[in-house]
Amino acid sequence: MDVEVVGRVLSTLPQDDDHPYRTGPWRPQTTEWRAEDLRVVEGEIPADLDGVYLRNTENPVHPALERYHPFDGDGMVHVVGFRDGKAFYRNRFVRTDGLLAEREAGGPLWAGIAERPADSPRQDGWGARGRMKDASSTDVVVHAGVALTSFYQCGDLYRLDPLTLETLGKAEWGGAFPHDLGVSAHTKVDPHTGELLFFNYGTAEPYMHYGVVGADDRLSHYVEVPLPGPRLPHDMAFTENYAILNDCPMFWEPDLLARGRYAARFHPELPTRLAVVPRRGGARPIQWFEADPTYVLHWVNAYEEGDEIVLDGFFQGEPEPKDTGEGGAYQRMFRFLALDRMQTRLHRWRLNLVTGRCREERLTDSITEFGVLNNAYGGRRHRYAYAATGLEGWFLFDGLVRHDLLTGDEERFGLPAGVYGSEPAMAPRVGSTAEDDGYLVTLTTDMNEDRSECLIFDAARVADGPLARLRLPERISSGTHATWAAGDSIPGWRDAESPAHALRL
Ligand SMILES: [Fe+2]
Repeated sequence: MDVEVVGRVLSTLPQDDDHPYRTGPWRPQTTEWRAEDLRVVEGEIPADLDGVYLRNTENPVHPALERYHPFDGDGMVHVVGFRDGKAFYRNRFVRTDGLLAEREAGGPLWAGIAERPADSPRQDGWGARGRMKDASSTDVVVHAGVALTSFYQCGDLYRLDPLTLETLGKAEWGGAFPHDLGVSAHTKVDPHTGELLFFNYGTAEPYMHYGVVGADDRLSHYVEVPLPGPRLPHDMAFTENYAILNDCPMFWEPDLLARGRYAARFHPELPTRLAVVPRRGGARPIQWFEADPTYVLHWVNAYEEGDEIVLDGFFQGEPEPKDTGEGGAYQRMFRFLALDRMQTRLHRWRLNLVTGRCREERLTDSITEFGVLNNAYGGRRHRYAYAATGLEGWFLFDGLVRHDLLTGDEERFGLPAGVYGSEPAMAPRVGSTAEDDGYLVTLTTDMNEDRSECLIFDAARVADGPLARLRLPERISSGTHATWAAGDSIPGWRDAESPAHALRL
């Protein structure tokens, strides 16, 4: 393995930090690495695994003003690229405006998710509530050959070279990027059309918008999706002809909001509302459906079947977990992030476009979340979902599950105690024709050995354990979202200067 330090940042976090989402498996990194020809410690890298696994990470550099929330951390992206049976690695901070301003100031300039925006030293900012830092640390996708990072509560989309992770600037979409409201995490790329679908939300009417960016990276469609008030949608889905947006009955308490406090509360007396929006406009109006009250953090996919839209996602049985008094102060404070406390289960909603009715069913009793699929099946009928299991009481992933939604079968792989995974990504084998013909890729944070590895699984045989384990230069932090991009979708993948090319030398 050829390893080089390419950058370091000066952290001002306290030496005696006791925040569980800034220490242990969430300890942020301060070093940026470049590593070629990663050491394979077990198995072999499949020769038909060709492309990049990208993962975003909340990686704070400075303390919070008062109370750190794990989604506040600065964005750091990790890439593991595979070509010709070899692999390279990079990790780089996303050079956001907020990161650069705080580096200049030497400390925090904006309030975080668990703080009051009015307490931000800076008057400007980003986010659905305003006066927040756009950390761009939540999600990452690849659109038009460029990696785009995004922030949980809306912001700019930062453009990164998907091989070197150099920050290239922000998405502008031909001058039409909605900088006033920003864009939420969980933009969706339709591999069949090359389009990027997105939404945003805020505290002013109409409270939500939906838009489309073409394969040419220009905004082609942007419409209002009016809501009854400020809401907290986190994810969307799409089919060949429709985008699916949501109005879940979990939102900032209106009377507190009027006093500048942002406290999300669940309203079990209200239905979940699902919007079917024509993808590119036209005469058909937005059609709303009512379903059982819940909060959905993440959808898996949607597709059209006759008069119905089939929508799969994770139903929360307890969107607002009660404080039972168990665990330490931080564990109680962040009980909203533990999958077992939220009771997240795969669920299917069937939206009938003719009758206007929604039928729904629980697909499994198993608690999983952060579900992904073979992206070639995005918006099309899918059979498999690959998801993470959570460590009881914490926001940490302790295993993987392959859900067969046709048979109901589940294949599991549990990580050893003290080893935590990332959201996996499904990498179709080069030339694959079947949905689960490919690999699952994830990164681990191993607290036993103080190291991180990249694990590669056969997507059809998850329970068999990894086909290969590769060593990363340093233990990385836990994080949220990841994606896969095939080599042939990345400009320069086969050029002489490409990191992928360097592997052959
Ligand atoms: Fe998310």
